[in-house]
Amino acid sequence: MKALVTGVAGFIGSQLAEALVEGGAAVTGIDCFTDYYPRTVKERNLEGLRGHARFGFVESSIQQADLGRLLEGVTHVFHLAAQAGVRKSWGRDFQVYTVNNIEATQVLLEATVGRPLHRFVYASSSSVYGDAAAIPMTERTLPQPVSPYGVTKLAAEQLCHLYHVNHGVPAVSVRYFTVYGPRQRPDMAFHRFLKAAAAGQPIRIYGDGEQTRDFTFVADAVAATLAAGDRGRPGRVYNIGGGSRVSVNQVLRLVEACTGRRIEVRYEAPQKGDMRDTFADTSLARADLDFRPRVSLEDGLTAEYRWLSTTTALTGQ
Ligand code: UGA
Repeated sequence: MKALVTGVAGFIGSQLAEALVEGGAAVTGIDCFTDYYPRTVKERNLEGLRGHARFGFVESSIQQADLGRLLEGVTHVFHLAAQAGVRKSWGRDFQVYTVNNIEATQVLLEATVGRPLHRFVYASSSSVYGDAAAIPMTERTLPQPVSPYGVTKLAAEQLCHLYHVNHGVPAVSVRYFTVYGPRQRPDMAFHRFLKAAAAGQPIRIYGDGEQTRDFTFVADAVAATLAAGDRGRPGRVYNIGGGSRVSVNQVLRLVEACTGRRIEVRYEAPQKGDMRDTFADTSLARADLDFRPRVSLEDGLTAEYRWLSTTTALTGQ
């Protein structure tokens, strides 16, 4: 197996690449170090991979890369590179999302046309659903994103589908539901809350805190992605959720229990683009990918806290 992993210096991409290398695959990773959060954080994510005999790294955007060369002999593409973050995708920043999420995906798909790929796995997002979807969300629901970010993730998913239908690219999409765990991005809720608890600083909760998320531990997301690369049905889309749907207020109590600290909370206005609730129906992933989330919220949160405590992430960038 020879894999190309885009967004390899990111939270999920780096752990996916490690799992691939550990499983015996040769991996080329590509990342352009967008400035959404500090490069030092992403460099740390790569530490375990750099120097590994079966790992090669290319620093480039997808649009500027020599994709013909990078795709030589590649059997699996895992496309995780993206501009993440639902709440920042409004206004002028939207262009960053269209370039990195839609255009980059089209360029990558185009470069794979006619190549003997086993699978092209696209990392999509629960944010494609929006607020109109019934809970639990199934892949048959009409997606109606409530954030510009969700629109770009959905557009890229649709590009995967059309390159499958028109060009036979064996594209499979996985819709991750709010992934957390070691290396979680610094803008995400668990990372912020754990860090604030440790530092004795207040946190901000957007809205009343009663919004719910189906939080997914990163190792479960990685396992699902590997399975999609192995046996996902081309053209299909799979929900990948952790099975633990809790409110942000409940998260807060779990963080207090995990850290042994009380947290001061400031409630702020709801953020545009935030979905109210997410909860994945994962029966399709269970049937096709044998997906079963294994890590409980308590264990996963503890693992993230342990990671934060042992890296400089707690003390600075
Ligand atoms: C996350 C990721 O950031 C997206 O990249 C991803 O596509 C999305 O999951 C998804 O799975 O579709 P989000 O659910 O907003 O988005 O994840 P968090 O940033 O961890 O936020 C979880 C909840 O906590 C949200 O309701 C958010 O409003 C709230 N939150 C977050 C706060 O109340 N305060 C904060 O400081 C941060």
